[in-house]
Amino acid sequence: MMATERHRRELEAADFPKPPRTRIIAVSNQKGGVGKTTTSVNVAAALAKRGANVLVVDADPQGNASTALGVEHRSGTPSIYEVLLDDTPMHKVAQRCPDIDTLWCVPATIDLAGADIELVSVVRREFRLHDALKELLEGHGKDLDYVFIDCPPSLGLLTLNAMVVATEVMIPIQCEYYALEGLTQLMRTVEMVRKHLNQGIHVSTIVLTMYDGRTNLAREVANEVRSHFPTETLEQTVPRSVRVSEAPGFGQTVITHDPHSSGAVAYTSIARDIAVRGAAGAESK
Ligand SMILES: Nc1ncnc2c1ncn2[C@@H]1O[C@H](COP(=O)(O)OP(=O)(O)OP(=O)(O)O)[C@@H](O)[C@H]1O
Ligand SMILES: [Mg+2]
Repeated sequence: MMATERHRRELEAADFPKPPRTRIIAVSNQKGGVGKTTTSVNVAAALAKRGANVLVVDADPQGNASTALGVEHRSGTPSIYEVLLDDTPMHKVAQRCPDIDTLWCVPATIDLAGADIELVSVVRREFRLHDALKELLEGHGKDLDYVFIDCPPSLGLLTLNAMVVATEVMIPIQCEYYALEGLTQLMRTVEMVRKHLNQGIHVSTIVLTMYDGRTNLAREVANEVRSHFPTETLEQTVPRSVRVSEAPGFGQTVITHDPHSSGAVAYTSIARDIAVRGAAGAESK
């Protein structure tokens, strides 16, 4: 039997413990194209497929997470923009994903493109997402186990809003030459948020994405990341896989598009690690 298939069967038999409280995970890296969206939607889908109630908040004007989750997000669709700027309650804009019953998405439309600037003059501008999400979790969303916030590739007000409400930050890293350059800045931002805006936040998870262990550079960067962040960096990496990159074209995650593929198995394995790490409640508040 192929190693991937064996791993898939092991995971099928494995337990995915639910967290004692809702875990709110900001998926962030100001570097573009490192796998934030792919990691958000696939980990979310893998957890939801195993029975967790999961919400993905698309906080990126590109709307890529909305595309991958197959939810409507044409300009004018009620979205995260109306939540942040017009006080629309989150449950009014959340959509259930067509492929998995327990997976929900608050979509982003291109209308969000101006939000980083529009938010500047709004009261409690860093707390807009916090206030909306807390209201959701006390009402319609009280059974949610996980909320993933897919952040844009910047450290502007949208990312800050995500970090202010998050209990954890997950950082996808692509093992390329410049991977570590922005990481110091990102860690400094998390520290600043912890000190001034949200004491409960910490970097819980680092995921190595699009990993090709055959290249020296990828191995060197991975070793470097692991030496700096030994507990945060997951053992399981995500391989580069055509199945992963083509899935959004079908309005799907790779978890439903091709559950037997190496990418789906890797993301399911990562989802399990995240579930097990958070089971004791250490990752939630
Ligand atoms: N494991 C993988 N195998 C193959 N392609 C991948 C993999 N992970 C991500 N990709 C592709 O790499 C590109 C960037 O991924 P993704 O959109 O998830 O990154 P991102 O960090 O969210 O980007 P942005 O900063 O623009 O939001 C996409 O085209 C995606 O399909
Ligand atoms: Mg993205």
